[in-house]
Amino acid sequence: MYVCLCNAVSDKTLREAVRRYQPKSIQQLRQLVPVGKQCGKCIRVAREIMEEELQSVPLYKEIA
Ligand code: FES
Repeated sequence: MYVCLCNAVSDKTLREAVRRYQPKSIQQLRQLVPVGKQCGKCIRVAREIMEEELQSVPLYKEIA
């Protein structure tokens, strides 16, 4: 499903970026994927997906 229609960013892309880079904020996430760079309507959903995904990702420290 597309989260950001302006930049064609899917939830799958967002989840993968969050899992891989574990951004601490929506600003950091926006540096990784071009989400919310135009109309900004997708920011709220992108943040929800980011928070949801971060909760299911074990912290790097826990794995190492
Ligand atoms: S839907 Fe993401 S910037 Fe417009």
